Amino acid sequence: MRAAVVGQGYVGVTGAVALAQQGHRVFGVEQDAERLACLRSGEPPVVEPGLVEQMTAVLRTGRLDFVEDLPDAVVADPLDAVLICVGTPPAADGTANLSQVLAAVGEAAELAGAPLVVLKSTVPPGTSDMLLGEYPELRQRFVCNPEFLNQGSALDDWQSPARIVAGAHHPAALDRLRELYRSVTCPWVTSTPAGAEMIKYASNAFLATKISFANELARLCTGPDINIDHVIQGVGLDPRIGHALLQPGTGYGDSCLPKDTTALSRWAAERGIPTPLLDATVQTNLQQPGAILRLLKESVGGDLSGVEVAVLGVRYEPWSDDLRAAPSRTLLPLLQEHGAAVRLWDPGLTPDELRHLSPRAEPHTALRAAVAGAQAALVLTEWPQVVEADWDDLASRMAEPRVVVDAKNCLPPVLMHRVPVVYRGIGNRRPTTELAPTETVG
Ligand SMILES: NC(=O)c1ccc[n+]([C@@H]2O[C@H](COP(=O)([O-])OP(=O)(O)OC[C@H]3O[C@@H](n4cnc5c(N)ncnc54)[C@H](O)[C@@H]3O)[C@@H](O)[C@H]2O)c1
Repeated sequence: MRAAVVGQGYVGVTGAVALAQQGHRVFGVEQDAERLACLRSGEPPVVEPGLVEQMTAVLRTGRLDFVEDLPDAVVADPLDAVLICVGTPPAADGTANLSQVLAAVGEAAELAGAPLVVLKSTVPPGTSDMLLGEYPELRQRFVCNPEFLNQGSALDDWQSPARIVAGAHHPAALDRLRELYRSVTCPWVTSTPAGAEMIKYASNAFLATKISFANELARLCTGPDINIDHVIQGVGLDPRIGHALLQPGTGYGDSCLPKDTTALSRWAAERGIPTPLLDATVQTNLQQPGAILRLLKESVGGDLSGVEVAVLGVRYEPWSDDLRAAPSRTLLPLLQEHGAAVRLWDPGLTPDELRHLSPRAEPHTALRAAVAGAQAALVLTEWPQVVEADWDDLASRMAEPRVVVDAKNCLPPVLMHRVPVVYRGIGNRRPTTELAPTETVG
């Protein structure tokens, strides 16, 4: 099939590469001049494992091109499908800003050849029906097909998703979508467009709730006789619960869960529907940076003013460069407001990028230099360079009181027991000689 993928961000560029790999003729449409130039020079505009290699390989087949707008994709032949993968960022009031979706669907509706229009962006329930009210001619060839990919495994998720959710008013539209995804084997859930939109929001709300639950659980582990690692391990081994995302830390801070939980909560509030569980999930998450700040403050003796703090990791996750809602964005100004002198180290960002993010902080490219003379280290990203570091060496470079706050609970407490630092993690996590149930050291 000939397909255009509108929007070449995290979802769109990985989708364009995956569809071209599956044998389709694909046009990646990107309106941002910088992103388009990057794509045309063969470079993906976002960081995603395997993307550089797979994009290079697929470009060689001649099945993938990048264009500035949709009409450029139909110069030679009409399209069979247009996939809308544009952003739905949060508006100031927390609702989803749909301006990119409205513009992109409008452009798709004008195309000759009546292509299938596939809405992959995450939108509040009712958005597709609102769009179909505006463009009734799309009714028989419109599918709401939300994307569930995870940054870090986006290409695999496009090739082997856990499920395909497709909401349409007309079976012919679903048949055309089946043709587009013919080489993908997984369960399908077909629904109305509004049902599909709700499935996406509900999934993200549940994932966010699991993370907030883990962070609330961590607050309950107040004494040395309750080890948070044991609790998480014991709870997650129940197959009805599972370990995925059941992990206390900095709070959810990818680009989707914060905006989607808030947008769903706003959507419900506009309809007068109470959502106390969802609202608590959001609140717990908003409180997590403050909880990390308090832990750091207490660990250095109650006052951060003048304390040199080496922040180790700025990204939310090592494998993604998406900083849109990273908890570091909230924490860095908080640390500075409380008087800390902040140094920043993150191997995924250049010194200029670090400076741009926090102009008053001191950027570092070497981990040892970042901690040298610092009274405290605050781990915000589970970078392997930090997890596998020689902490005896790092500790020897730090200044008293040599505090290490591990906001991702990623350093093995049994190793930190041997290191001369004050080690604190989330959930009263302390150095210990006792291995966590699944931990192996050495
Ligand atoms: N990032 C994720 O992990 C993820 C996962 C699942 C779903 N989603 C959802 O998918 C959607 C896209 O997310 P993203 O992270 O890829 O967004 P993004 O902001 O990284 O990318 C969107 C791109 O679309 C481009 N664009 C907007 N309007 C355009 C138009 N009319 N023509 C051409 N280009 C246009 C923008 O310039 C931008 O590059 C969002 O609704 C998001 O909630 C994201």
